[in-house]
Amino acid sequence: MTAERAVAGYRCAVCAATVDIASLVPWQCPNRTAADPYHVLHLLPGGDHPVAVVDPNPFVRYGPRLAWWAFARARGMSHDDCVALTREVAAGFLTTPFGRSSELSDEVGTSVWVKDETGQVAGSQKGRHLMSILLHLRAAEELGLLTERPPLAIASCGNAAMAAATLAHRNGWPIDVYVPTWMDPAFGRLLDEFGARTHPCERRDDDPPGDPAMLRFREAVAGGAIPFSVQGPENALCLDGGRTLGWELRDQAAAAGAELDRLFVQVGGGAFAASVGAGVGAGVRLDTVQAEGCAPLAAAWTRAGEMDEPASRWHDVMQPWPDPHSAADGILDDETYDWIADMHAMRASGGRPVVATEAEIVRAHELATAAGYQVSVTGSAGLAGLLHVSDELGPDDDVAVIMSGLARS
Ligand SMILES: Cc1ncc(COP(=O)(O)O)c(C=O)c1O
Ligand SMILES: [Zn+2]
Repeated sequence: MTAERAVAGYRCAVCAATVDIASLVPWQCPNRTAADPYHVLHLLPGGDHPVAVVDPNPFVRYGPRLAWWAFARARGMSHDDCVALTREVAAGFLTTPFGRSSELSDEVGTSVWVKDETGQVAGSQKGRHLMSILLHLRAAEELGLLTERPPLAIASCGNAAMAAATLAHRNGWPIDVYVPTWMDPAFGRLLDEFGARTHPCERRDDDPPGDPAMLRFREAVAGGAIPFSVQGPENALCLDGGRTLGWELRDQAAAAGAELDRLFVQVGGGAFAASVGAGVGAGVRLDTVQAEGCAPLAAAWTRAGEMDEPASRWHDVMQPWPDPHSAADGILDDETYDWIADMHAMRASGGRPVVATEAEIVRAHELATAAGYQVSVTGSAGLAGLLHVSDELGPDDDVAVIMSGLARS
């Protein structure tokens, strides 16, 4: 029945290797190695998307569209057991508010619609990415395919770490969080409260170039830990649950009578824009937003524009940004790991990367806060992109941004 196979499997966007939907822990391309990590599995669509059921929990509402669900069904779990497992594991996930902001619309001179994700579990969209990984693991346990709990591992000291620690705690699953030495101690105490084991990562003399927290994370995964990551190349399933936000946004816009023309999404590692773009669909133009102090996706877009098959030339296209800096400190990833999916979503919808000035990043945060959103500078950066192109927008346009990342004082 197509309704149970909305996802048929996975295919690597770089080498075209395929992975069956019934595979246990299908996190990474089978051809990925430590020497060649430049592979990423993308979801292969199956049959039609099942109609959403009426439920405030997005993981119940859109559950049968998800890859973990197709895995569980392929392995023999019943529909009702999938629903019951979702209710237990994803308890607390919300349909977050969506509405037209009159303050922002007046300011920009166009209809600005806001999806406010700051009230989501752990204060951001990151939990949606991680939930589909956790549901796969919990389904595997229920099916007797996983008989012990290897630790979850993540390298982050921001919203992703907070979401990961929250979900691990709720499910009683051990977690190791690899963090930079400069992490704010107050944030470390929050992670401690969730029982996460935090590991400050100093650069070692014999380390290769790159972020030491990421190096330790990868070592842990090589040693058997589960990549509880919000980066597609580290764990493809993060690109699964993130789509719930796009589906939700599209359904809410339709219910509100808004015919969205454009959507502006802030980009760090790129999983957020990739998932939302896939969920919203090519009918809404997706413009990705980065800060002028860290815009590797925009640079890669220019390089890729001159190539026939950019996905097979990762190194030539996606090059680390030197010296990332911006007040939007949650999107300072020097590489956009999910650049292939981001570019695909932009090309399909007629969008492009927008690089906001630092003044626009700051202004967007002031406006968002004044309009009543308790959002971080990172979380309002999509609005900065909108401000950057406001000359292109007319009074009859309907444009959307996603405020995510609760401002923590
Ligand atoms: C609030 C917020 N918005 C957007 C992003 C960017 O998401 P991604 O890294 O998936 O591009 C992040 C995290 O990096 C974030 O915390
Ligand atoms: Zn591959």
